[in-house]
Amino acid sequence: MKKLAIVTGASRGLGLATSEALAQRGYKVVMAMRNPEKAQKVINNLKMKDLDVVAMKLDVAQEKSINDFVEAFRREYGFVDVLVNNAGIFIDNEEGGDKSVFKTKASTIQKTLATNTIGPFLLTQKLFPLMKQEGYGRIVNVSSGMGQLGEMDGAYAAYRMSKTALNVVTRVFAAEAGGADVLVNSICPGWVKTDMGGQGANRTIDQGIKGILWAATLPKGGPNGGFFRDGEPIEW
Ligand SMILES: NC(=O)c1ccc[n+]([C@@H]2O[C@H](COP(=O)([O-])OP(=O)(O)OC[C@H]3O[C@@H](n4cnc5c(N)ncnc54)[C@H](OP(=O)(O)O)[C@@H]3O)[C@@H](O)[C@H]2O)c1
Repeated sequence: MKKLAIVTGASRGLGLATSEALAQRGYKVVMAMRNPEKAQKVINNLKMKDLDVVAMKLDVAQEKSINDFVEAFRREYGFVDVLVNNAGIFIDNEEGGDKSVFKTKASTIQKTLATNTIGPFLLTQKLFPLMKQEGYGRIVNVSSGMGQLGEMDGAYAAYRMSKTALNVVTRVFAAEAGGADVLVNSICPGWVKTDMGGQGANRTIDQGIKGILWAATLPKGGPNGGFFRDGEPIEW
């Protein structure tokens, strides 16, 4: 049977490219996104390449949307092999002046945590049991070097906190695997040319997704509870 993957934030950027690449590797990919209607053209393009993809509605910042998504997903499929928690926002970079830690608003932190941390936490909490039941699962939390405590710099407090906390999500769920072949890892894609990374970034999208694909397709006995860039461990 085909392996089944869920990729969040699949409408564009790294999520879209990861979905296409997994489908090219023979996975059926549920492309979870806020606005499947708006992404119809993108999805049709993938289908025209004979890729097995389907769009489903999911706003990771809304608990009700997560519950509705998981319910619909369980009803339709009942199992999942790969979860890529990719959806993310970097609004302290977008809102003028907010990037200084002395200007960061509580609402910026709250919104960022809702999308980048709590969404992945809830989705993992609800889908992890399906993986444990099957005895197989790969969970990839798309984190960032900006969340590394060892490299912590000033500015962008909301985004940094959300990614450091996402790494905690990785560690706590990794510790719950209890001998099952369920591997949970954080990866940093590097600085990638997407809407978020901007055109000044030093990596292409293809380079950015390499580490995501590596973690999504790890063999049995692969690393669990780690933080990686390009398949190499990096400091927390
Ligand atoms: N690009 C980089 O340099 C870089 C570096 C390190 C880490 N990352 C991480 O990589 C991931 C992907 O980033 P990207 O560069 O591909 O960014 P992007 O081009 O801005 O795409 C972000 C994606 O997340 C989706 N999204 C945002 N909020 C969402 C929500 N509440 N529910 C569902 N989907 C939501 C967006 O959907 P809409 O189309 O609906 O807005 C979009 O598909 C993020 O977690 C980011 O933090 C990126």
